[in-house]
Amino acid sequence: MTARDASVYRCQQCGYASPKAGTCPDCLRAGAGYLQLVEERAAPARSGRGSPAGEGRPRPLRDITLEQHDRIRTGIGELDRVLGGGVVRGSLVLVGGDPGIGKSTLLLQTARALARVTPPVLYVSAEESAAQVKIRAERLGIAADGLLLWTETDLAAVQAQLDDVKPRALVVDSIQTVFLPELESAPGSVAQVRECGARLMMLAKGLGIATFLVGHVTKEGALAGPRVLEHLVDTVLYFEGESHHAYRVLRAVKNRFGSTNEIGVFQMGEGGLAEVTNPSGFFLAERPGDAPGSVVVSSLEGTRPLLLELQALVARASFGTPRRTVLGADYNRVCLLLAVLEKRAGMPLASQDVFVNVAGGGRVTEPAADLGIVLAAASSYLDRPVPGDVVVLGEVGLTGEVRAVAGLELRLKEAAALGFRRAVVPKSGVPAGTKVPLEVRGVATVNEALDALLG
Ligand code: TYD
Ligand code: MG
Repeated sequence: MTARDASVYRCQQCGYASPKAGTCPDCLRAGAGYLQLVEERAAPARSGRGSPAGEGRPRPLRDITLEQHDRIRTGIGELDRVLGGGVVRGSLVLVGGDPGIGKSTLLLQTARALARVTPPVLYVSAEESAAQVKIRAERLGIAADGLLLWTETDLAAVQAQLDDVKPRALVVDSIQTVFLPELESAPGSVAQVRECGARLMMLAKGLGIATFLVGHVTKEGALAGPRVLEHLVDTVLYFEGESHHAYRVLRAVKNRFGSTNEIGVFQMGEGGLAEVTNPSGFFLAERPGDAPGSVVVSSLEGTRPLLLELQALVARASFGTPRRTVLGADYNRVCLLLAVLEKRAGMPLASQDVFVNVAGGGRVTEPAADLGIVLAAASSYLDRPVPGDVVVLGEVGLTGEVRAVAGLELRLKEAAALGFRRAVVPKSGVPAGTKVPLEVRGVATVNEALDALLG
């Protein structure tokens, strides 16, 4: 076999492998254009990559015991919630996000918290110098014992030290900048990212180290490097937010040890990230009283209700095709709802520019906010405010019907807790006999909702 035979050509976007040079057929089919495959020398024989759990043979299921202390509470409540009640010993957690969003800050704070409960914790910085990390640590007021910092990009060197240091938790910042010297590809390439991920998985499982990896996100919104990394790790968290807003959301998109619906909310400030335990209050803090175009909806993220202010501005289009600009909600969904409003409620929006925004940099992802969007647009068009003490809920269908939403009671309780006194909800969804401390009005159609709130 020649050296050439040992090469494989790999797509840096999706990980597609081919024995020949050329472009990636998968990405071409998916509409990403012609992407050159990059030559990779085949990985050397993999020594020591045995079964990840380090157990020699099959065992009866009933003999396998779960130990309570296998889950470590970090003490950062919002993070623990997203992880499913704490980080599991021996698990591999990938934290993705845009550059500058605060991943290093989050993980340094996590490392400090873990160093208090299960020292020692090793923070491997492959991106910044020790001085840079120290500056951040000082800014965050971190001077914990049991927190070890190491600036190293060679993962083999890190592995060699693990027996000595015996960390209980490990942070690698970032997976795209560490490398294994035995592979010829550059750090950040698919081959390196995949092999480094696999090596860290083996170490995490074998030594029982709770391991966090930082991953950068590409412009397209996918974790840079191959998607194989997402398949490999136990948990994938995304750290999101607008860099010009203080609030940040940590969202689980995959979790082998918990639900993927939970979110954690943080606020970036002078002293680093602070937990936001009352996110609804945070989002509504600057709400204008009785302004046309502003409606509050109660959205549900996992088990957690979140009140958000939707804003719409409807203004006469000056010329040409009217504009539709949407921030924080799905563009196509908003267009659909405006069409419903035009057709079912007779509002001539086709000649109007429409802008929709979720205040405070928030984001709505569920159809339960539909009725809120419709009412915000109608309120702005009519220049009549929706009363300030009303919260609105309901999915809107194409015939203008208002459909039931899940978790109504939970959403209404949150609204009541924040001082809302009235709610407009889907008629079909009002559960008989539930006690919510709000005046609840059920509506079956968009027109009924318009009548109820905008006269
Ligand atoms: P960082 O954690 O370096 O982001 P990432 O690792 O995701 O690239 O954080 C970057 C931003 O956070 C930076 O613009 C400064 C800001 N920041 C604060 O506002 N307060 C703080 O206490 C810290 C440490 C950072
Ligand atoms: Mg960083």
